[in-house]
Amino acid sequence: MLFFHSDNPSEIWHSIKHELHRGALDPKHPFRFVNLGTRGKGFPQVRTVVLREVTQSLDFLVFTDFRSEKVKEIQNSPFVALQFYHPKKMLQVRVEAMAEVHFQDELADRYWKGIPEVRRSEYTGTLPPGKVISSPDSGWDLGKKSFFTVLKISPQRIEALQLSKEGHLRIQFEKANDWKGQWLVP
Ligand SMILES: Cc1cc2nc3c(=O)[nH]c(=O)nc-3n(C[C@H](O)[C@H](O)[C@H](O)COP(=O)(O)O)c2cc1C
Repeated sequence: MLFFHSDNPSEIWHSIKHELHRGALDPKHPFRFVNLGTRGKGFPQVRTVVLREVTQSLDFLVFTDFRSEKVKEIQNSPFVALQFYHPKKMLQVRVEAMAEVHFQDELADRYWKGIPEVRRSEYTGTLPPGKVISSPDSGWDLGKKSFFTVLKISPQRIEALQLSKEGHLRIQFEKANDWKGQWLVP
């Protein structure tokens, strides 16, 4: 468990933030992978992405290809959701956030410099992600142009559900409320 009935909301807030930072720093941490939800044209869309960094100001950074559907969806509507689950701690964290797309700008250039040469090809495919191809090998053509993009995801509301034999605990923190905690019926 990450938190208990006896903890106060401000202690819980610090524990949750610590856990989120660990997710980005430790490749074995379950928060390393996060489900990112966007508003699709019809159905809501959700996919797994790698949590690359949680900044000091609590922005979540994700790397992607500029041509991907998620980028188009965010450009259409910046309202996104993140969902984390820690199986050992029996903890779910849900985040409502605003996303920004950074492509060929100062922020994207800064993070591109940190991508090792061997990993750069992940962002230089000639065909856009999601395109229909006639055989699985047709998707591996590499070009010179990079479509490396950073998604900067700024949380507005963070909710944690702690499963517990003594009774589940649910608490929310809202930016508009200075991140003060409020208990919720689980
Ligand atoms: C474990 C795992 C990690 C992934 N990490 C990323 C990632 O960091 N960035 C990304 O764009 N796609 C990542 N993907 C692929 C996405 O889940 C998704 O299939 C792809 O980005 C296309 O999504 P879209 O068409 O909704 O844009 C990952 C998939 C898995 C299974």
